[in-house]
Amino acid sequence: MTQPLRIAIAGLGTVGVGVIRMVQTHGDRIAARAGRPIEIAAVSARSRSKDRGVDLSPFAWEDDPVALARRGDVDLVVEVMGGEDGPAKVLTETALSSGKHVVTANKAMMAHHGQALAELAEANEAALRYEAAVAGGIPIMKSLTEGLAGNGIERVMGVMNGTCNYILTEMEHTGADYEAVLADAQALGYAEADPSFDVGGIDAAHKLSLLAATAFGTRVDFAGVTIEGIERVSLADIQQAAELGYKVRLLGVAQMSSEGLEQRMQPVLVPSQSPIGLLEGVTNMVIVEGDFVGRTVFTGPGAGEGPTASAIMGDVIDIARGLRIPAFGQPADSLTAPNRAAHAGSASHYLRLTLTDAPGTLAKVAQMLADQGISIDRMRQNDHDERQVPVLIVTHDCARSNLDAALAEIANSPVSLAEPVALRIEQV
Ligand code: NAP
Ligand code: HSE
Repeated sequence: MTQPLRIAIAGLGTVGVGVIRMVQTHGDRIAARAGRPIEIAAVSARSRSKDRGVDLSPFAWEDDPVALARRGDVDLVVEVMGGEDGPAKVLTETALSSGKHVVTANKAMMAHHGQALAELAEANEAALRYEAAVAGGIPIMKSLTEGLAGNGIERVMGVMNGTCNYILTEMEHTGADYEAVLADAQALGYAEADPSFDVGGIDAAHKLSLLAATAFGTRVDFAGVTIEGIERVSLADIQQAAELGYKVRLLGVAQMSSEGLEQRMQPVLVPSQSPIGLLEGVTNMVIVEGDFVGRTVFTGPGAGEGPTASAIMGDVIDIARGLRIPAFGQPADSLTAPNRAAHAGSASHYLRLTLTDAPGTLAKVAQMLADQGISIDRMRQNDHDERQVPVLIVTHDCARSNLDAALAEIANSPVSLAEPVALRIEQV
């Protein structure tokens, strides 16, 4: 009889419980595919008494998750507690140091410590896999490190945070309040323990930095990601964008050019009928452009119990089969430090200005834009009261630095009655 792969699960929340359910539901199928049974030996979480809707009695319990990594009856640790440092990192380091494999869903930890953990894994001939950390149920890390491995990758982009896409599309369809939709996303198990990571764009930026490292053979450079969240996107922007033929999406773009590595995560406008414009709810989409393959598009659920468990088990089964792929698709010591591109390429932008309803206001705004070399493509003045006028402007292509200079001037002038809103328009 082939030896089982014995796993321990640290964290019994949305993802950990999903992994247990998957092993219990598909144990025979998984064993057939892996070539050996996969057995859960031990588990850990903060509260032993909490009812988690699954039977934990067959498994050994550890109060201290790090103790899982020291058990003699464990070959692989599934880390699904979260947190970039703390017990998740100590557990991962302890497991790898003793040659135990680690499968994690923890993008925060991988974005901050991925290089060191990858080196530790290789030094101890252990596998470190994190498919579940990037774009939920979409097997994008597997695609980059295996199916697309022969390509020079030119650009990776996409929608990588299910919570944000859920919030933006629910607001768009129902006009619901931001806070109420965020609460729904939390109840559905999509959001991070601290949801400001989701709406602040940080979670998606963690994922983008992992994709970029793997795509371009560079060390993870989370600090090099320009990040803007969706907190300042209002229902008014979503509705006005729709009238102009656009949808608002939190989009990540990583591209390597002669300028260096550009990584940005920000809310943008995309054409309503584009694949990303049509993306609804918790669904993620990752687009990879390779020199030989061309453009490939991956889509699927980006968060939640089932999709994340699916990604975790894909990694566990690969390890059970004996497949060993370096964490970033090539040996950690061959990853190079990226040069950061100084700025993003120019693009057309959507502006929402709240202006005084007085003679000469528009002329002054047009002049402040012109002073920075920014030309107006389209403009619309909407319903207004006696005092203030909402004005929408679509610019021609311009550099963000010029736009920021013009907006600072507009914001400081007496014609502006509220902080201007600017969103990049991305032709995807
Ligand atoms: P969760 O529901 O909050 O569950 C976290 C689990 O970890 C809980 O069972 C908690 O124990 C346990 N835990 C936390 N700190 C601990 C500590 N110091 N010691 C022992 N146990 C501890 O989180 P989740 O949604 O499952 O996410 C887990 C990880 O997966 C995170 O890294 C997250 O970013 C990632 N992820 C989540 C999703 C998703 O859709 N939810 C998708 C992809 C990746 P108690 O239950 O006893 O409090
Ligand atoms: N909070 C994350 C999201 C979970 O909403 O996408 C999946 O990584």
